[in-house]
Amino acid sequence: MKLDLTNILVKISKKDREQASNAKKVLESKTGLGNDYLGWLDYASKLDNNYVNEIYDYACNLHNKVDILVVCGIGGSYLGSKAVIDAINGLDFTHQVIYLGNTFSANYTKKVLDYLQDKRFAVNVISKSGTTTETAIAFRLLKQLLISQHKDQYNQYIVATTDAKSGALRKMCEAENYKSYVLPSNIGGRYSVITPVGLLPIAFACKEKLFPFIEGIRKAEVDLMKDNDIATEYATCRYRLAKKYQVEALVSYEPQFLGLADWYKQLFGESEGKEHQGLYPTKLIYSTDLHSLGQFVQEGSPILFETLIKIKETNEDIEILEDNDNYDGLNYLAGEKLSWVNEQALTGTLIAHTQEGNVPNIIIELDRLDPYNVGYFIYFMMKSCGVSAYLLGVNPFNQPGVEIYKKQMFRLLGKE
Ligand code: PA5
Repeated sequence: MKLDLTNILVKISKKDREQASNAKKVLESKTGLGNDYLGWLDYASKLDNNYVNEIYDYACNLHNKVDILVVCGIGGSYLGSKAVIDAINGLDFTHQVIYLGNTFSANYTKKVLDYLQDKRFAVNVISKSGTTTETAIAFRLLKQLLISQHKDQYNQYIVATTDAKSGALRKMCEAENYKSYVLPSNIGGRYSVITPVGLLPIAFACKEKLFPFIEGIRKAEVDLMKDNDIATEYATCRYRLAKKYQVEALVSYEPQFLGLADWYKQLFGESEGKEHQGLYPTKLIYSTDLHSLGQFVQEGSPILFETLIKIKETNEDIEILEDNDNYDGLNYLAGEKLSWVNEQALTGTLIAHTQEGNVPNIIIELDRLDPYNVGYFIYFMMKSCGVSAYLLGVNPFNQPGVEIYKKQMFRLLGKE
């Protein structure tokens, strides 16, 4: 993975670099705000391979029994696994993994439950606190459906990922005898994709690709400990750009990157957006969004910069064919690959946005969207985010603002 700062249109000062390097030291020495939530920092290197094999075997056996895994969780309890599965496998038209417990929408929930009625499915209910209302309601409904399918054997189709000791879900695991995995208490939801929270659904959907995914995380852990690492460099650059812009748009030309972009939004939004600080993280998938928001990016209010994800090699390719009639006038592209057209769109847009629109672009270059590089990217982003939040002087690992909606909602729902 590489970081290219040639199009950022600002100068990073020596002072910015010194501040970022201090923030990195605080993170790595575990002496900063929220330091009891830094378990993710060296989780992958400490991860026992026997444990990974056990998760993999369990997921494969489960897949022999059922066709669908319903991941029941919200926020950090599902965004990471969805991000990785979509990035590695491509967009899922087969409904191998379905996500529920991330909404109160009756429309969506009813559709999913109706769909599952006559399907072979299992549920991975994921909640660190074990009390999140969206997840708890969906799990109650899913459990009722499993009971109607399997009577007193229903618990064989439930696997829970939650805290080792505390919370309602842990109590249910014990009382109803579910298979369970532990989300360590020193890792928060949005940093948990590298734990069983992500590993189990990833193993179910991506099979042995789980292993290079973990290798990528481990390699990033080692590389990004070094001086002048790219995670700190990215954080420094964001910090500099944040003095002038309010929004960072993560841009990709791959629709299967969408999940990673959603995961990134939560990671940075919840980690940095506090004490009236932080860039607003958003996502753009080009060229699709060039036909919706491209106009705004090029000539609208100058509130944003782009962080462009450039993927060097495509996983699949397709050739544009010659057409005798050429009514559409596309024969000038005959024989070219679609990935080549996508590359030209990227380069042309980069020139248009930076040189004519004055929109700074940070470029993150990945070799491929494969398990290893996705693992590397995930850890890179988490580390950058920690450094970024410390640069702002905020705690990256809490989310006090989220509790405020819950308080108001519970009052209206009549919760004691
Ligand atoms: O990052 C976080 O901590 C949150 O987004 C949580 O993941 C989310 O609120 C779900 O919480 P829980 O896993 O406790 O159900």
